Amino acid sequence: MASVQDNTPSSREQRTNPETFTVSINTERTLTAADFPRTPGTLAERSGVWRFASLLPEIPEDKIVSRWEGNTPLYWDQRLSDYAGLTSGRFGVKHEGHNPTASFKDRGMTVAVSHANAVGARVIACASTGNTSASLASYAATAGIPAIVLVPEGKISYSKLGQTIAYGATVVQIDGDFDRALKLLRELVETENVYLANSVNPYRPEGQKTIVFEILAQLDWQVPDIIALPGGNLGNTRAFGKALSEAYAVGLIPKLPQVVTIQAAGAAPFVNYFESGFDHYEPVHADTIATAIKIGDPASIEQARETIQLTNGIVAAVSDDEIMDAKAQIDRVGIGCEPASAASLAGIRKLVAAGKVSPDATVVGVVTGHVLKDTDSVVKYHFDDEPRHPLANRPVQIPADLDALKKVLNDAVLG
Ligand code: F0G
Repeated sequence: MASVQDNTPSSREQRTNPETFTVSINTERTLTAADFPRTPGTLAERSGVWRFASLLPEIPEDKIVSRWEGNTPLYWDQRLSDYAGLTSGRFGVKHEGHNPTASFKDRGMTVAVSHANAVGARVIACASTGNTSASLASYAATAGIPAIVLVPEGKISYSKLGQTIAYGATVVQIDGDFDRALKLLRELVETENVYLANSVNPYRPEGQKTIVFEILAQLDWQVPDIIALPGGNLGNTRAFGKALSEAYAVGLIPKLPQVVTIQAAGAAPFVNYFESGFDHYEPVHADTIATAIKIGDPASIEQARETIQLTNGIVAAVSDDEIMDAKAQIDRVGIGCEPASAASLAGIRKLVAAGKVSPDATVVGVVTGHVLKDTDSVVKYHFDDEPRHPLANRPVQIPADLDALKKVLNDAVLG
């Protein structure tokens, strides 16, 4: 054990100054490697996806491309439950930003790239709003298979673009939106020998199923009332329905939670479809600050419909302001996420206020990407003047002067 000695007089200010403390480690004893917890070694111990291999497609273990994805935290914070209006319920954050490339995409990608590896793919491709491309680039690089990604030029965050470039994929920026990029790529793979890694590839949703398995395992297989998630191309909504029906079929859970999919109001074709009683579907021209879910013609629309029907779920829309305020709230409690991810919390807050979700519900909101995935949106929210956002935390500017610094301490921090 390290001991910390306080060598200072007992005034409060000095006692908390760490420079006046001495840290000493006791080395007057013998330790062996056995005194330290062992790093788990096997694929199943290290990967939160392959641990559920008995509910995944079979792939020879020597072909599996894993970066120890999954095993993400489930956080509970009273302030988020309060924000959601769950007065006697609670809101948990399943944080998929804690994956190797900082988004939920790594779960599907380990399965798809492993399959590509097993079938001897010579090149893997995807269209993306930024996270799929970063994930594919990383897993393809791990496997040593070339990757090509199509992104809408100027419409994805720089952090994601930078990540994808850094992992070495060939990045093709097209003059068009995500929907156009995906169509173009699907045309390409009809004639060229290219392995498609978008969620229309059935191996991708297989990996995404493990988000649900992991949530249920973290709750000791007690079923929450609701699992809420953002919806874009709807691969995840599709995967969640499949995961839940399989978990039910094999006897892991006695009932199904409601799946609640939240879209940005400017990119809400699934909401319109839901509100028509799933009678009439029409693609839209997408526009939202949450670039990850700026999708007007989701590829998995019909499979996502099945999930909502199976679980008696809800599909709802939230405005960009609602998304950004919920994001600022998730950020402020120290958890952090990218804009699209906050749709889960913003949507539940709206549905509780509208009486469509009970305030005593246990809700798990899937937070899909890390706060560092879109730092431009963070800076904009906190610096904007017109309007000044409710949770804005603007940096304070002072001259390099001690009195000015003390004033900040007393007024802005302690005051
Ligand atoms: N949240 C984030 C952070 C995303 O990146 C995405 C999708 C979604 C939510 C929506 O998930 O498509 O399964 O409904 N991003 C894709 C991409 C489209 O290319 O990175 P979905």
